[in-house]
Amino acid sequence: MTNHFSTRAVHAGNDVPPPRGHPVSPSIYPAVTYTYDNMDDLSAALHENAGYSYSRYGSPTIAILEKAVATLEGTEDAVAYASGMGALHGAFAQAAITPDRPVVAARSLYGATYTLLNKMYADSAALHLVDITDRKAVQAAIEQVHPRAVVLETISNPLLKIPDIPAITQAAHQHGALVIVDNTFATPYLYRPNDHGVDVVVHSATKYLGGHGDVLGGVVATTAQRAHELRLQQRSFGANLGPFEAWLTLRGMRTLALRMREQCANALRVAQWLHDQPSIARVIYPGLPHYPDHDLAQQLFRADHFGGVVSFELRAAAEPEVFRFMEALKLIQTGTSLGDVYSLLLYPAQSSHHALGREERLRQGIGDGLVRLSVGIEDAEDIIADLKQALP
Ligand SMILES: Cc1ncc(COP(=O)(O)O)c(C=O)c1O
Repeated sequence: MTNHFSTRAVHAGNDVPPPRGHPVSPSIYPAVTYTYDNMDDLSAALHENAGYSYSRYGSPTIAILEKAVATLEGTEDAVAYASGMGALHGAFAQAAITPDRPVVAARSLYGATYTLLNKMYADSAALHLVDITDRKAVQAAIEQVHPRAVVLETISNPLLKIPDIPAITQAAHQHGALVIVDNTFATPYLYRPNDHGVDVVVHSATKYLGGHGDVLGGVVATTAQRAHELRLQQRSFGANLGPFEAWLTLRGMRTLALRMREQCANALRVAQWLHDQPSIARVIYPGLPHYPDHDLAQQLFRADHFGGVVSFELRAAAEPEVFRFMEALKLIQTGTSLGDVYSLLLYPAQSSHHALGREERLRQGIGDGLVRLSVGIEDAEDIIADLKQALP
């Protein structure tokens, strides 16, 4: 029946059976749709989730990634998204955050997360921003407003503030609030929020999970019930991760522990070196003993691991001096991401916190001379040498 060339070209090879052995690495399934030998099976796939039908409803490579993230985070399940913002959008919608229901959130939230919350979920009257490291203020806000949810990050950006997640979670649960934690900066290698009762864990997989600066993705790790609801929601949101991106993220995650170990060790060395430099006014790194949240970081995180990001302030510097320093860097690249194997430096006043305006930015403690360095896995000596030759 399929003797004509054009027909053979379209279908040739499709009858090769799946491999008999087990592939040692995950396979990429780009197929958008699945066919079955009988219509009952197709119906079951479409309506009873008994098999794949259409890739917006689920697909095998994505399922492998979701299982892997759930395993590392210690949650029952996880749902992948096309970006970290897609994941946060899913988490907020599933939490039924609506403009009339109060939300308590860290004032230090990543800018786009704040904008998403404020513009699409909780209006300004309902959004109660707190210094998430001020336990009394957080407790008071929860008691006062009885929020639907408390939204925070394990390590804030760029000031690297560390909240007492177990205490906040306990207070939130006592008042019926859901806790949503963005664990992007810490990764499950340093800290697993689910072990401390957190309801929903979110990742920008673009950062440490992927780790190589070549994939945009996000994941929500949570209970089986919430994951089920997120998947139903995803059918209409359509912010699905693609199979190639899922595969790249999985490939990155295989070395997450190795990379985090190296990046944390490098970051500590760089922070210690910066601390002794006369041209540096302030070094922010949870691994330094003088850092205000150092003890809490030691208590919460994997022993001797404090993250791969170091922020520091150039002495008496504003935009021109910071730009000159950034342009003088040779090894460290300047760009707006983090968590990659490459060292990346960002100027918050120009990028991540530009939209805040200078007054609010300064109010949040993000000065004109502050830069954020995501330390890569290059040799620490080379990173330090680059900083040395570029600093004024
Ligand atoms: C802590 C944090 N959460 C979420 C996001 C958003 O992730 P994505 O860029 O993958 O949408 C970012 C991005 O920088 C981030 O730093």
